Amino acid sequence: MRARHLIGTVAAGLAGLATHDVLQRKHTLLHNYPVVGHLRFLLERVGPELRQYIVTSNDEERPFSRDQRSWIYASSKRENNYVGFGTDNDIEHLEGYVIVKHRTFADVAPATGVAHGNHDEGIVLPSAKVLGGPRGRRSAFRPKSVVNISAMSFGSLSGPAIEAINKGAKLAGAMHNTGEGGLSSHHRQGGDLVLQIGTAYFGCRDEHGRFDLEKLKDVVASAPVKAIEIKLSQGAKPGLGGMLPAAKISEEIASIRGIPMGQDCASPARHAEFQDVDSMLDWVELVADATGLPVGIKSAVGEQGFWDELVSHMAKGDRGVDFVTIDGGEGGTGAAPLIFSDSVALPFRLGFARVYATFARAGLTDQLTFIGSGKLGLPDNALVAFALGADMVNVAREAMMSIGCIQAQKCHTDHCPTGVATQNDWLSRGLDPTLKSVRLANYLDTLRRDLLKVSEACGVLHPALIDADDIEVLLGVRQATPLRKIYRYQPRWGRIGDELGEEITRIMRPVAPQGGSAPESATSQD
Ligand SMILES: Cc1cc2nc3c(=O)[nH]c(=O)nc-3n(C[C@H](O)[C@H](O)[C@H](O)COP(=O)(O)O)c2cc1C
Ligand code: SF4
Repeated sequence: MRARHLIGTVAAGLAGLATHDVLQRKHTLLHNYPVVGHLRFLLERVGPELRQYIVTSNDEERPFSRDQRSWIYASSKRENNYVGFGTDNDIEHLEGYVIVKHRTFADVAPATGVAHGNHDEGIVLPSAKVLGGPRGRRSAFRPKSVVNISAMSFGSLSGPAIEAINKGAKLAGAMHNTGEGGLSSHHRQGGDLVLQIGTAYFGCRDEHGRFDLEKLKDVVASAPVKAIEIKLSQGAKPGLGGMLPAAKISEEIASIRGIPMGQDCASPARHAEFQDVDSMLDWVELVADATGLPVGIKSAVGEQGFWDELVSHMAKGDRGVDFVTIDGGEGGTGAAPLIFSDSVALPFRLGFARVYATFARAGLTDQLTFIGSGKLGLPDNALVAFALGADMVNVAREAMMSIGCIQAQKCHTDHCPTGVATQNDWLSRGLDPTLKSVRLANYLDTLRRDLLKVSEACGVLHPALIDADDIEVLLGVRQATPLRKIYRYQPRWGRIGDELGEEITRIMRPVAPQGGSAPESATSQD
């Protein structure tokens, strides 16, 4: 009798907990997996202690380690993202560990309040370059944020996830790249957009699947599209077109893309509108002229000939891209064959450095904006990108994590447990776009804050002023080599030109928090 009573009480308790979990909006995982979802939170909490005895260390998991994910989760919730007791990274033995060199004396110093997390009004960190400015595009502009959201289409991500990202981009003053699936209703939440054009021309093609310039102009006019990115390739699957598995093609997606349901949607590997660098630049000018917008390319880095040719054409000055987005081979994807994800295209640092050096040798680096992606949503990686010459960074999976992704790596199956990368209604309904948009904005803001604070620690007011001499890479405790030496950069490469430097310093000085020291005494030595 007593046992039956106990079972009844437990069952009632579990039913109550399940009802609470389904109805609450804060945690998607609990909504989608009532009761059992608590296990994940429990493991997250006691994980550090458990891992002392079993399983793995904080830095072992991939693609993002537990430490990296915890930093993103804490930042997105504005929880304490500090560490206690010192680093648990094996600095003494690791190869490739990155060290930023702070300056002892400098004109600027981190102000105590902001450095310690007080950034309620948002961190202002605009691009040091005007996008489309050098080529005189009608709608050239200075991006408000050096950190923006990388291409991820509606299809690979759920409608609520796209809405959360677009709203979050608006809150944080960042730009949201549509990905190659076209501009859907979910993208229209008020956030600025970069429209990506892939090889299938989704969203700007006619009924035969051909690119349609008039349609492109209509789409651009219908939403806050600030720039256009022509996708040549992405790091996780260069040489292959986009791929949306049949399991993720809902009626809505089929109608937006103009594709049948029930079969994989594979975009062609190459563009139909141009065949080589020469015709690509003609097409870039055509699109820029028709829309007035800055137009750039996104590419992973493989053979060098393409970049040599691009630079030699751009050196003539009559045609050119407004930006290049270099995606590292370590970049993410919704779905790709293993060999492409693992082994095709250079990792970000190597690929970016080669492309930047090609432009630098021709003296063209101030003529366009360099954007980087490939795990650059972490402060140390982003700083290396800026030191190598990036002007902005794009973040994809880090943004997904800020809105709830737990790195379950099931994005290609339609079974994403957190509702981020699925078209399953039950799973995606658990993701509250309004709540998660704030998380994304918090994360973007924290990353900008860290970039700003480390720049100030290096004695400059903007990460674009950090160069390849400011960062060294360790070979355990035996050797530290400046980035400049590793990537064979010439002096001052990786840094914007003096004129741009003075301009961004002027812009940043009024917002930069000064006062990194105590008030001076009467005996202070000036
Ligand atoms: C779910 C998902 C979907 C993506 N879709 C696209 C896409 O439509 N077009 C594109 O150029 N890149 C796409 N990417 C690649 C990202 O834009 C980005 O370049 C890459 O993931 C590297 O950034 P990260 O390391 O911050 O994730 C996608 C990545 C993910 C994870
Ligand atoms: S939780 Fe897993 S399946 Fe969902 S987006 Fe993240 S990695 Fe992909």
